[in-house]
Amino acid sequence: MSSLTWLLIAALALSHVCDGYKVLVMFPLAGKSHGILGKGVVRHLLQAGHEVTYITPFPEENPPKNLHQVDVSNPEEFEKNSQILNVTALLEGTVSLDFASMLQFMLSMNRDVLTNPNLVKLMSDTTKNFDVVIAEWMFSDVYSGLSYLFNCPLIWVSTIEPHWAILRLIDENTHPAYVPDSMSNNVPPFDFTARVKELFMQTFGVAVNLFYLDGYQRQFFTELLGPHIIKRGRPLISFDEVKYNGSLVLGNSHVSLGQATRLPQAYKPIAGYHIDTVVKPLPEDLKKLLDNAKNGLIYFSMGSNLKSKDLPESIKKDLLEVFGGLKQTVLWKFEEVLPNLPSNVHIVNWAPQQSILAHPNCILFITHGGLLSTTEAVHFGKPIIGIPVFGDQFNNIDRAVRKGFAKRVDLSYVMKNDLRAAIDDLLHDKSFTVKARELSVVYHDRPVHPAKEMVHWIEHVVKTRGAPHLRSPALDVPLYQKLYLDLIALVLLVLYVVKKIIVKVCCSRKPVDKKKKRN
Ligand SMILES: *[C@@H]1O[C@H](CO)[C@@H](O)[C@H](O)[C@H]1NC(C)=O
Repeated sequence: MSSLTWLLIAALALSHVCDGYKVLVMFPLAGKSHGILGKGVVRHLLQAGHEVTYITPFPEENPPKNLHQVDVSNPEEFEKNSQILNVTALLEGTVSLDFASMLQFMLSMNRDVLTNPNLVKLMSDTTKNFDVVIAEWMFSDVYSGLSYLFNCPLIWVSTIEPHWAILRLIDENTHPAYVPDSMSNNVPPFDFTARVKELFMQTFGVAVNLFYLDGYQRQFFTELLGPHIIKRGRPLISFDEVKYNGSLVLGNSHVSLGQATRLPQAYKPIAGYHIDTVVKPLPEDLKKLLDNAKNGLIYFSMGSNLKSKDLPESIKKDLLEVFGGLKQTVLWKFEEVLPNLPSNVHIVNWAPQQSILAHPNCILFITHGGLLSTTEAVHFGKPIIGIPVFGDQFNNIDRAVRKGFAKRVDLSYVMKNDLRAAIDDLLHDKSFTVKARELSVVYHDRPVHPAKEMVHWIEHVVKTRGAPHLRSPALDVPLYQKLYLDLIALVLLVLYVVKKIIVKVCCSRKPVDKKKKRN
């Protein structure tokens, strides 16, 4: 081989050794589960040798050397949200989490985050450069502006099942007849009413974006990001050009958890990336408890947002009565000590959920049905009883019920008997456990681990300068062309002209006919 060939090979090899990219990761929502997902992205990027700047409301103390944190926490807002997520208030309907209040919340959060002094400092620093921006999509497209500001590709992270509002950013709206809205409680296959509801909800959603949200987002883009863009000497272009320019969506979804929604090439389902490959060992006391649970252990946790201590007294009493009547050991993640605890019920302030679910003696998981919890249930192949409280929890649980590894119990003052019956069912009917294990096999049977896949695609986007080859052609086709309205117009025009000609021909003959008749 000539020395030139060797040189070329060496150059090629070197170009594949990455020096560590500069990655900007943005998960500004102050929800525990969002923090966990953000942290998962950051952790794996750091492990892969990249340098990460992380915009987060949950900065950690003593971060490693190649992690820079931008603290966007907002204690006031956090306090307000904790009040909204108070179980008693939700039970009594004194707060509502409807679409309108959620949009308001998202808009004010967008504004707060983009005007946060720490983020403003980062944005206005013209010496800062990144190779890629990774931003969580939460009913807002405005963070796409950061990729334009830093002149680098954009990757979205979607924390839920794929839905029209995220897929339209990299492809097109999904079909409402079989893909539910992200806020919807309908689980496909839809009956007539559900199908019509979906059409209505999704059309309404498109209209809300068009006539309400887009205006705000354009305003945020020009007013809050614009000055920094201009400072860098870049033209302030239309926000639409920016928001439809994402290279990829990393989706916290997988067919084992949701449905086999048709996906564009630029969507990569990576659910489970946040779960450690190696299960952390249990603390000694919990290990003993689980090891000794001869009849199995039931793990009960309402997640990190809803505090069990906000539960009304009567419900606490009922829960203790139900749990106390069981042969099984019950481990309850709860923030307070309860008096008169039955001997088989154990309360812990903090629980290593993954390590508990991983234990073979854990036989049932009672959960609020947050997506991370349902994902972890499938990961470890455990059946669940879901007590959904707000947001996507209803949908997560309904999907799990449809898949056959869950029962749903509605949170109410009189849920005692329902809960007892559900526990009975799940303990006696083995089909729930069998199903959970089957789904777990599907979940784990992937060519690569989701965390590895995630890092691969992020690096791919940087290496290929935005992965333009993954860009869907659908993005460049306007709706009227997809619906062939131009063809329909043309056909109508032709029909009209033909009719005109026919009429003309007939009318010019008629007088002749009439004359003949008269004769
Ligand atoms: C769109 O993204 C590509 C790839 O990242 C980039 O080269 C291009 O400049 C971007 N366009 C705009 C308008 O941001």
